Amino acid sequence: MAPLSTTSLHVAGELRVPGDKSISHRALIAATLAEGRSRVRGILPSADVHSTAGVLRSLGAAIPSLDPFIEIDGRGLHGLREPTADLDCGNSGTSARLLSGVVAGSGLTAQFIGDASLSRRPMKRVKIPLEQMGARVELPAHGGLPMTVFGAKLHDIDWRSEVASAQVKSCILLAALTAGVEATVREPSRSRDHTERMLAAMGAEVWTNDESVLLFPTARLNAFDLDVPGDPSSAAFFAALAALAGSGELLLQRVGVNETRTGFFAALREMGASLELNDSVRESGEWVANVQVAAGSGLRGISIGEEAIPTLIDELPLLACIAAYAAGETRVTGAAELRVKESDRIAAVVTNLRALGADAEELPDGFVVRGTSPRLRGRVTTHGDHRLAMAFGVLGELPGNEIAVDDPDCVTVSYPGFWSDLERVTS
Ligand code: S3P
Repeated sequence: MAPLSTTSLHVAGELRVPGDKSISHRALIAATLAEGRSRVRGILPSADVHSTAGVLRSLGAAIPSLDPFIEIDGRGLHGLREPTADLDCGNSGTSARLLSGVVAGSGLTAQFIGDASLSRRPMKRVKIPLEQMGARVELPAHGGLPMTVFGAKLHDIDWRSEVASAQVKSCILLAALTAGVEATVREPSRSRDHTERMLAAMGAEVWTNDESVLLFPTARLNAFDLDVPGDPSSAAFFAALAALAGSGELLLQRVGVNETRTGFFAALREMGASLELNDSVRESGEWVANVQVAAGSGLRGISIGEEAIPTLIDELPLLACIAAYAAGETRVTGAAELRVKESDRIAAVVTNLRALGADAEELPDGFVVRGTSPRLRGRVTTHGDHRLAMAFGVLGELPGNEIAVDDPDCVTVSYPGFWSDLERVTS
């Protein structure tokens, strides 16, 4: 099928998107558990990462304010203390799930709380493996927060996860790391592997293959120097914008291109976009590249199934949005996890697209969008979900569309400067 005709939007410029959110959380946690002083450049100073910093401080870590260059003096693998107040994770699932592993492995007792969205999200997926390791975890009847972790002496675990979730995998690995036991985690398909890469770079013995990761007990973690790569999930919005534009080009500098994260770039290419990854280098165990996207190709619909979902899980709302401008049908299946993110992202993206005038349909585990190049008009209900705000923000830049986002400030969860960066590359 021929691509739909392109829009009259023009894009131009170079952009360095902020640091990777997943790696920023992990850098704070790993530096805290290391021996000696770690140095981190380019940490993401967003609300979610502030939540991890705050929780770690409550556990006795020496986390400074999240400036562009920070130094963290590690407490070692057994140096954390019991908090005197609840651990507030705000909107951040990564904070709650990863740090529950640290608390359990450290033999501490603590209660995790969060905002209304996080409090609804499923925590049984960490409770069950942590309890299999010997901890006790209490949850309310609905399975969300508040969650109380009662530390105990933990033992080895060989865990087969029903969902491909880096948060669950990392929770188990961090519990094993701090408890000094062995952990194997098997997943239905491979989730992002930043935790295991970082721990290996710090001297831990970690074995990985396509389905599983095995962490051996280690006596110490070495401090590290890290330059946090740009977040591919943030770069995705600008890659999509350039792909929808009729003319111009965008260069996104120093973006993390770890293959467990680049599914959206691959999808854009398959849809017909002109996207290149140039000048790849490996830094601190992670691949980084410049992403160049030339406008004017026009897009075609594609199908994405379960296997690829973890590699673009956070970009699926954006994919649904751009699919409205891709010829034919775009179909995503095997993505039921979207229903338990910061919002029910299947219902939210489809309802908003339809309300604005696009042709979209929910599936139990995904969505179908038929590309009609619609003129979209109306108000988007984000449910406070940063990725929905930014995905519809991209569509709002297309000439002829008039889209208002109900809560533009919610982008601070992952990308505080999003709106000004968007303006910069389109004006
Ligand atoms: C994350 C893992 C993913 C992703 C989230 C960040 C992480 O969640 O959606 O935004 O940093 O580990 P799941 O592991 O629950 O799929």
